[in-house]
Amino acid sequence: MEQNFLIHNISKLLNYSNIPVAFKKGREMSFVSELEDAWLLVENGRIHDFGIKEQIPSFGGLTVDAHGGMVMPSFIDAHTHLIFADTREEEFVDRLRGLTYQEISARGGGILNSAKKIKNISEDELLERSWDRMMFAFSKGTTAFEMKSGYGLNTDSELKILRVIKRLREESGLPIRSTFLGAHSFPLEFRDNHQGYINQIIKEMLPAIREENLADYCDVFCEKGFYSPEETEQIVEAAVQYGLKIRIHTNQFSHSGGISIAIQHNAVSVDHLEELNNDEMLKLLNSNVIPVLLPTAAFFMNCQYPPARQMLNMGLGFCISTDYNPGTAPNPDLNFALALSCIKMKLLPEEAFNAITINAAYALEYEKSLGSIEKGKNAHLIISKPNTSLNLIPYSMSSDWIQHVIAGGIEDEYE
Ligand code: NIG
Ligand code: FE
Repeated sequence: MEQNFLIHNISKLLNYSNIPVAFKKGREMSFVSELEDAWLLVENGRIHDFGIKEQIPSFGGLTVDAHGGMVMPSFIDAHTHLIFADTREEEFVDRLRGLTYQEISARGGGILNSAKKIKNISEDELLERSWDRMMFAFSKGTTAFEMKSGYGLNTDSELKILRVIKRLREESGLPIRSTFLGAHSFPLEFRDNHQGYINQIIKEMLPAIREENLADYCDVFCEKGFYSPEETEQIVEAAVQYGLKIRIHTNQFSHSGGISIAIQHNAVSVDHLEELNNDEMLKLLNSNVIPVLLPTAAFFMNCQYPPARQMLNMGLGFCISTDYNPGTAPNPDLNFALALSCIKMKLLPEEAFNAITINAAYALEYEKSLGSIEKGKNAHLIISKPNTSLNLIPYSMSSDWIQHVIAGGIEDEYE
């Protein structure tokens, strides 16, 4: 795409700043800066300058008329399982008929069902399907992603997924972080031999991943019925030895113990947190671990939402992501997560917006290049249609408010 252009006729620039802001916590999350009647100049794919219309520079290159729309930082999805072979709507109907997620898992459905489907699909076909999902999310405003493996559950299939993530990054030029989640479930043949599978993760998968440099992070599903705290810790310790940073799925269905492990091992994030008590919130407050909330999964699973309001009152900050996956969150649209954040978790539009922009950039360690309108950052922007307000975005629950999605810069440049 064009890397040098001037956007003019902007009703408002949202979340602009002249000093670097990395992460917003507590009451800071309710603040979104606004610059009215603005322009913004992009050079070499980066935000070069912006200002009010009275001070618009003369520019000989391409000009883009925003037609009175707003310009804001584009959305960042810091937690997805976007690489899967197929949807699982038959399990959705099983749940409507009364089975629980755990019951479906125990009889070989759920994550194991997705693993079966991955085995039989070629890397190219998996890439094509994943590409289409990513581009759909892009059309809804998401220009940077975290993507996890975890539907392989054996060395070949896990590597296949991670290679697809690498190819998505190389072929799209978008900023994508890759997470190894071999410890998503136990394959059926290891149901009574957990240590056997953990050994495979540690002795086979981690070295192969390092060999091809296929992951930035390692994640574990620390949950009753999945990985115990002891099992989680073993994997985390090994992953750190292989140079991976840590993210942990925890407290989705129970107080599973993952938060303490995450803090002890300097994890980047703890994700889910539907079940979160005061003690756990205090622990998080005294740590650098970023909470990642996933309201789409809580909605789809019909379970309680993370206590976002209490977290804010306590001074915690968090990011919000989709958890896009075929089992518990089959929708990659961050607009929908944003609407749920307001409707179900009672966040203000500003709080929810910060959670999917600046805080999500921080959660993916892209805070130097993405998440807000600052000089020098990559021009990852959304231009809204005219007459859009920030409040309209969650209110309209993902209706058609986007005029353009822009992702300036090439992959190598993201810091
Ligand atoms: O984040 N919690 C674990 N993993 C996914 C669900 C995976 C699936 O059912 O396919 C999640 O909700
Ligand atoms: Fe997840």
